[in-house]
Amino acid sequence: MASRGGFNSRIGFIAAAACSAVGLGNIWKFPFEVGNGGGAAFVVIYLAFAFLLCFPVMVTEIAIGRKTQKNPVGAFTALGHKNWRFIGILGVLAGIFILSFYNVVAGWAFGYFVEMIRGNFAIGAHFSDFITNIIKVGGYGIVFMAATAMIVSKGISGGIEKASKILMPTLIIMMLGLVAYSFTLPNAGKGIQFYLLPDFSKITLPVMYRALGQAFFSLSLGMGALITYGSYVSKRENIITSAVYITLADVGIAFLAGLMMFPFVFSQGIPPTGGPGLIFVTLPGIFGSLGSTLGVIIGSAFFLLLSFAALTSTVSLLEVPVSYVVDEIKIKRKVAVWLVAGLVFILGIPSMLANGYSDFFTHFITYIGAEKATDFMTFISHVANETFLPLGGALIVFFAAYIWKKENLNKEIEEGFPGFKGTIIERYIDFAISYLAPLVLFSIFILTVLDRFFGVHVF
Ligand code: TRP
Repeated sequence: MASRGGFNSRIGFIAAAACSAVGLGNIWKFPFEVGNGGGAAFVVIYLAFAFLLCFPVMVTEIAIGRKTQKNPVGAFTALGHKNWRFIGILGVLAGIFILSFYNVVAGWAFGYFVEMIRGNFAIGAHFSDFITNIIKVGGYGIVFMAATAMIVSKGISGGIEKASKILMPTLIIMMLGLVAYSFTLPNAGKGIQFYLLPDFSKITLPVMYRALGQAFFSLSLGMGALITYGSYVSKRENIITSAVYITLADVGIAFLAGLMMFPFVFSQGIPPTGGPGLIFVTLPGIFGSLGSTLGVIIGSAFFLLLSFAALTSTVSLLEVPVSYVVDEIKIKRKVAVWLVAGLVFILGIPSMLANGYSDFFTHFITYIGAEKATDFMTFISHVANETFLPLGGALIVFFAAYIWKKENLNKEIEEGFPGFKGTIIERYIDFAISYLAPLVLFSIFILTVLDRFFGVHVF
């Protein structure tokens, strides 16, 4: 293990995996998905998916990683099932797709940090100008990808682990403060109602698959990111408790983000269906309302922390293809990092152009049966988040239950958790990975592809 590096401490792994999970997915994406998904009903479905389906997938990924000490592709070979490597390859591809657009949004967040320092609270109203300013967006994108590459090239304990430990608590404290402030605003109650009082008639198939995609994305599941992180974990680690902490941290921060956002959104009279612009349109005005000095301090600190949260996630996204290249093609880590980062940046250029700058990428594709065209960035996120990740998750648990065999999975979990055998958690995980998760995930995957891309509405 020494040559590949590893986490120095127990808390280091949990912090790093939690920081991989917590990112733009929680603070940027979750609120606008809730807004588009009709509010509290989406939240309920999301929570159910996170705890009942995603948690067993998470445990399985970490266990496969720790058992094999390999990247997601090599892991399947190491377990003696070379024919299943394609799952890992799907994962590496998903990582590359996700990082290509994620980096663009991370660049926006960093750009907003700069605008907040300058006291430009009016930027909220000019969000669409900001994202079509290709010089800024490209420049911030380069800065962000380079920062990610620098951390990843430093290896596991030096870069990823250190950065993770300080940033998360700071972010949580800041958000609690903002939640408290949001409650004092007019119409806060309406926002909270929208967020927390479910209207179950709003649960439709699209709401289900968006919630599933969101849960997978937010927990960093389905593409082997946690196989990779698990590969650096020591045998003394208790995988179950680690997974509980990671899930709670991730879901908790997403929940806080919603609690903060909806009072803000309703107090400003902004429609909650604002899509990817929601936080970028809403928050600057809120910070401005704090007065110029306090607004600059809180506003810039918020977007700086958001940038850091994004950074610990881009790091985990880049780590997957890099660990694949390092292990399987056997080139030096440094070289691999810059090669992959460069490639992903180039792949991200269409996403940068897809928000109004280029007509072609802004109206990239019209799904069969759809009324409006979908832009390239949204399209690639649909492909990655709503199809690749649930499919990857389904295949990973199917593989663990029936090919690798659940006895072997259980044995791996028992290392670091001697009392695991016979517990109700063991029985639930066995049930979930053998029946519940493969069935639900495969079905939703197929229904999603039909519904989203081909206009075939089974329900
Ligand atoms: N979970 C991160 C977020 O919510 C994004 C992310 C990082 C991710 N690594 C991943 C998503 C691996 C899927 C798979 O911001």
